[in-house]
Amino acid sequence: METEIGTDINLAAKLLNAGNAVAIPTETVYGLAANALDPDAVLKIFKAKNRPQFNPLIIHLPNWESVKKYVTEIPADAAILAEKFSPGPLTFLLEKKKPNSNLSSFTPHSSPLIPDLVTAGSPKVAVRIPAHPLTRALLAHLDFPVAAPSANPFGYVSPTTAQHVFEGLNGKIPYILDGGPCQIGLESTIVDFDNQQVIVRRQGGVAVEAIEEALGKKVLVQTGVEEHPVAPGQLKSHYATATPLYVEWTEELLARFDNKKIAMIAFGKNMDGVQADFHFQLSAFANFDEAAKNLFSTMREADACGADVILSKFLPETGLGQAINDRLRRAACTT
Ligand code: TXA
Ligand code: MG
Repeated sequence: METEIGTDINLAAKLLNAGNAVAIPTETVYGLAANALDPDAVLKIFKAKNRPQFNPLIIHLPNWESVKKYVTEIPADAAILAEKFSPGPLTFLLEKKKPNSNLSSFTPHSSPLIPDLVTAGSPKVAVRIPAHPLTRALLAHLDFPVAAPSANPFGYVSPTTAQHVFEGLNGKIPYILDGGPCQIGLESTIVDFDNQQVIVRRQGGVAVEAIEEALGKKVLVQTGVEEHPVAPGQLKSHYATATPLYVEWTEELLARFDNKKIAMIAFGKNMDGVQADFHFQLSAFANFDEAAKNLFSTMREADACGADVILSKFLPETGLGQAINDRLRRAACTT
């Protein structure tokens, strides 16, 4: 299959309508989209990504009006967050409508249901209204939500440009809708709602502090790998570079790479103490937004520069620093 890159929304819509998987730009990362109501189309996503198991996928819709067709209710806290952060890098876990859950499902005009393949059997569906103008226009053209994980082969660094998608999925999908480099650069933050409690399941483009400020209360952050192995973004070895990457290192480890080529990914001032052969900067003035936007492309560049090892440092654990550190932690080798 030949993979084309372009900006033709009508062509993307036509391919999606015909049951194909198409890469789409979002403000977070590029997604690999398919008709969420068609399990055969959704299977093409798993196949193109080479994903070993069926993990649940986020569905993308143009507005909250259309979300209501697929979920039983929108909790009060979700409504507050929707008002503040949608469209944008926030994903909501909401109770999905079930077969025969109400009388309306018997009527001819009842909305179709989100298949179990998309939610991996969970009673909740992950929903996001993306902010990227091209994808918003595309979604407005479609009469179904699109399921879309990040458009990278399973386990590799997420794509933030059409070229990144091409490098990973060339020959496996017909079309990449090119919306330029992603503005946020980190996947969406995922929030869950349990009675009065708001739980962050994945840190991402919206900082935990911003969510707490909007709600006027504390939220729980439960992103542990061990507790929730169902979420692929929570797998330990995810976002991984082919070149070994270390975020914390010892003299002993450095000794192992004596005479080897070292790439350094810095945030703000360059790190002293290590003689690096290649230097990469996430943000010269230590700005979190800029670092988030540059993170995945910098990881890819460091991976491709010919170094034998990549060294980096954790950022301060506040704001987007937490989500960036999470990605570095998951990309890193532990031995
Ligand atoms: O920014 C983003 O969220 C990007 C863009 C394309 O929208 N998408 C993305 O998808 O990062 P993906 O598949 O790489 O990560 C989706 C995360 C996974 O950790 C998955 O387990 C979780 O969302 N998830 C999806 N549906 C879920 C559900 N029903 N229950 C719990 N977790 C769910
Ligand atoms: Mg992903």
